Amino acid sequence: MASASRAQFSSRMGFILAAAGSAVGLGNIWGFPTQAASNGGGAFLLVYILMVVVLAYPLLVAELTIGRYGQANPIRSLQAILPDAAKNIGSVLAMVGLIAASCILSFYAILAGWLVGFFVSPLLVMLGMDNVAVWLETFSVGRNLLLMAAFMLATIYVVKNGVAEGIERWSSRLMPVLVLLFVILIGYIFTQEGASDGLHLFLVPDFSQIDASLIHSAMGQAFFSLSLGVCTMMVYGSYLKKEANLPKTAAQVAMIDTGIAIVAGLLVLPAMFVAQKNGVEIYNESGQLASSGTLVFDVLPATFETMGNAGYVVSVIFFALMVIAALTSSISLLEVPVAAAVEELGQTRKVASWIIGLAISVLSVLIIFNFGSLFDLIVVAATEYAQPILGLVFALLVGWVWHRDKVLAELREGNPHIAQGLFWRVWPAYVRIVCPLLMLYVFFAK
Ligand code: PHE
Repeated sequence: MASASRAQFSSRMGFILAAAGSAVGLGNIWGFPTQAASNGGGAFLLVYILMVVVLAYPLLVAELTIGRYGQANPIRSLQAILPDAAKNIGSVLAMVGLIAASCILSFYAILAGWLVGFFVSPLLVMLGMDNVAVWLETFSVGRNLLLMAAFMLATIYVVKNGVAEGIERWSSRLMPVLVLLFVILIGYIFTQEGASDGLHLFLVPDFSQIDASLIHSAMGQAFFSLSLGVCTMMVYGSYLKKEANLPKTAAQVAMIDTGIAIVAGLLVLPAMFVAQKNGVEIYNESGQLASSGTLVFDVLPATFETMGNAGYVVSVIFFALMVIAALTSSISLLEVPVAAAVEELGQTRKVASWIIGLAISVLSVLIIFNFGSLFDLIVVAATEYAQPILGLVFALLVGWVWHRDKVLAELREGNPHIAQGLFWRVWPAYVRIVCPLLMLYVFFAK
């Protein structure tokens, strides 16, 4: 089934970096700390880690396995695991995944655009262009359009040149620098008054905070953060060589992703308390975060300001890294429809990237013009519904529809010894029964 011309990741490390590049993004550095700060800190952290282990990781293996078996875009990969009479269902599911991925990209590009603005603005201040810098940091239709377009162009540019090469290159540089900067910033923030309160909130769970809604949020966050349910990991899995050990590779990706979310929390929650001491408004009267952008666009800049002139440099580096992290995720989102158009419609990668990228930009423009009504709607529809529901469907397909021997044979590729291990004994039944039940419970308990 695999065509000779299909790109593959050059090494297992290359794949891990690319998949981790997809996973690590705004969800980790923005979404996770924001959710933790709004949902009782340590309680959220605990439930989140649990969700990654009991749900997201097994489903990540499932999605990667479908993709690697198919060695093709999601339409064909999903068809490949279904019996002849049900092939159409595979196409429909893949189309839903493809549309969901496009919707996620449409709002992701708007948010990432704001980061581009915060990256450029200190540079403009240094050049004396303070007015433009302020404009870039202030919410307006014009600014949102310009920055979204800039970010989307960068995404299209990388995808049109081919994923394996483009993404491997970016991700391998990003990850170590990102972690290093976080460690330095965490070191700094703990020299400031108030930081230990944030650490306490983040690390010491208050069990009374755990309720159905917190569990639901943690599940959604885990799905978003690990790029699950919208065929992204399926597409990446399809570029993976048969030699790779799927459960191990997936575990490494999940660990990198969760590790970076935790490191981001270790910086952002303490920084929140420090900023509060310095007069930044964090929570409003009803005890909720003042805005969803508070932590990234108020708290962190306030932290950088306390560093004097060095703060400018740190701010530029920080937001540059955020933009790259967002880019390695947006690339993986655009790759989903592009891979399908290239293989199913026979388009060239270049044409498909431009046309689909521009179509998604049109959706972003619509959101920007109707921000108040559309933004939250699309975010919730894509992340709280489409992602978990599709994830559930993939689990059901792998558990109940795909022939068990074939699933196991695919897992054994690149890992002949797995048949003796715990994973082998537990995972198939787990994905078949426990994952769907758990997800239904989380959905309906809310
Ligand atoms: N995981 C990415 C992040 O945390 C977002 C994403 C979701 C990417 C779904 C691909 C698919 O930012």
